Amino acid sequence: MGKVVVITGSGRGIGKATALAFAKEGYSVVTNDKYAKPAEDVAKEIIEKGGTAYPIRADISNPAEVDQLITGAVEKFGRIDVLVNNAGIQNPKEFLEMSVEEWKSVIDVNLTGTFLCSQRAARCMAKQGGGLIINISSVHQVIPRPLYAHYAASKGGVNLLTETMALELSDKNIRVNAIAPGAIETDMNKDIMADIKKKRELLSMIPMHRMGKPEEIADMAVFLASDKAKYVTGATFFVDGGLTLYPSFCIHCKQAMI
Ligand SMILES: NC(=O)c1ccc[n+]([C@@H]2O[C@H](COP(=O)([O-])OP(=O)(O)OC[C@H]3O[C@@H](n4cnc5c(N)ncnc54)[C@H](O)[C@@H]3O)[C@@H](O)[C@H]2O)c1
Repeated sequence: MGKVVVITGSGRGIGKATALAFAKEGYSVVTNDKYAKPAEDVAKEIIEKGGTAYPIRADISNPAEVDQLITGAVEKFGRIDVLVNNAGIQNPKEFLEMSVEEWKSVIDVNLTGTFLCSQRAARCMAKQGGGLIINISSVHQVIPRPLYAHYAASKGGVNLLTETMALELSDKNIRVNAIAPGAIETDMNKDIMADIKKKRELLSMIPMHRMGKPEEIADMAVFLASDKAKYVTGATFFVDGGLTLYPSFCIHCKQAMI
């Protein structure tokens, strides 16, 4: 039987591209989303292309639903070789106006959701003799971003969670790595992409002068799951066209660019 990957938030965007890329590599793919239809549609697309996939709806910030996701994946395919913690949300808000509910909504998905899925999947991986966890972080794990205190804090947390899990789980033959995307062409950035001025300003800060494509994040995930990366753990790979080489705050217009 082929290898099995679980990808959270794979109903669209980076998660969907990653699901399609792993399916192309011969993996059985468990698609997941907070909403049933997107997860089902991506699974259907994989199956129509000759691959193997199974959709499981679950909100990854809910411990009981994460249990259903991981148990469901193991019941369906017998094991989990790779978990990609991709589901994430943004909700820009001025720090002084941010309610505790708004703070928690982002932390609960981006950080607590990553913890919950990783812990549950790692318990299965430990029993089966090993595995790989890939966290989709962000350049904002190292670059502060005005209006995104909760988002940046959640991704900074994912950074140290990645490193701590790598330390604790290496004895169990479980590798843990992260990918930190820059500005990627997904619905999460549709407002920037629709605003010519904002997009031009953003591109001026990216050394490669273009946004990234979801498939370019997926390619890094596939690489990390390959034998070529078998000695890699506890590392974060920035896939950002060089964005982290620039500050996120435009010193000319005094505005956040990304
Ligand atoms: N797009 C970018 O420029 C960019 C940059 C850096 C990091 N990232 C990170 O990459 C990941 C994917 O981003 P994207 O641009 O594809 O986003 P997206 O908004 O296009 O897709 C995210 C998917 O996750 C799902 N989701 C949200 N909350 C969920 C939950 N609680 N449980 C299960 N599914 C949930 C959504 O329904 C959606 O289908 C996120 O973690 C994001 O923070 C994105």
